[in-house]
Amino acid sequence: MNKTTHHPLIIFFHWLCFGLIIAALILIEMKNFVPRDNPWRADLKTYHMLLGQIILLVVMLRMMTKLVVINPIEQEKTLARFFKKIIHACLYIFMLGMPITGILLMQSAGKPIPFFGDFFPSMIQESADLKKTFKNIHEYWGNTIYVFIGAHAIMAIWRKYIMKDGSMQKILLAKASRAH
Ligand code: HEM
Ligand code: HEM
Repeated sequence: MNKTTHHPLIIFFHWLCFGLIIAALILIEMKNFVPRDNPWRADLKTYHMLLGQIILLVVMLRMMTKLVVINPIEQEKTLARFFKKIIHACLYIFMLGMPITGILLMQSAGKPIPFFGDFFPSMIQESADLKKTFKNIHEYWGNTIYVFIGAHAIMAIWRKYIMKDGSMQKILLAKASRAH
């Protein structure tokens, strides 16, 4: 078994989550540039919420996959690996935490969640204070995470072009599907 790439399913979910998260962020950032009386503003927010809910589902599938597939990759035991694991853990907390705080903010505001809202149990009572708290957490985290995603991506690019240690191939689907 090839030990230089992640399992193809892990790679597939990595890039699927990446695409969905970037799209969710673009939609909500675009919303801020649309004038208040323009209906596009509400639409952008609605589609942001739709993508956010899909991300929650995909991340849960991704985590279940990680439990069942045997990832053949050989892990180096270094300090760099330790920091890499911390960033990966933060990224997982973010991928779960963002949709959950988004759902909590809508529920505490007493507003319906478009598309799949009926499937979520009611987790919180309506309260203006709670709504404010979850909105702050959701927005603050959402803006902080750019730093973690940036650090993670810069690290990957650094290792590919400066250290040339072949780490990028671990997450490339074309390499993995040839190898597995
Ligand atoms: C939303 C953005 C991103 C998130 C949330 C994310 C998350 C993760 C996570 C959690 C892992 C660990 C493997 C796993 O559990 O699936 C990982 C691995 C990896 N990611 Fe990302 N990633 C993102 C964007 C990127 C980008 C833009 C690049 C490249 C420029 C990249 C390159 C890599 C590489 C090379 C690995 C393998 C690291 C290793 O095992 O040594 N990621 N990513
Ligand atoms: C990974 C998934 C998600 C990410 C990355 C994300 C990211 C963000 C960010 C960065 C903001 C703040 C934008 C700003 O600074 O103005 C925001 C706002 C918001 N998000 Fe999310 N979000 C996600 C999922 C969700 C979900 C699932 C919901 C609800 C079902 C949701 C509802 C909202 C709402 C209502 C706002 C406030 C919009 C406003 O300004 O009125 N989000 N989100």
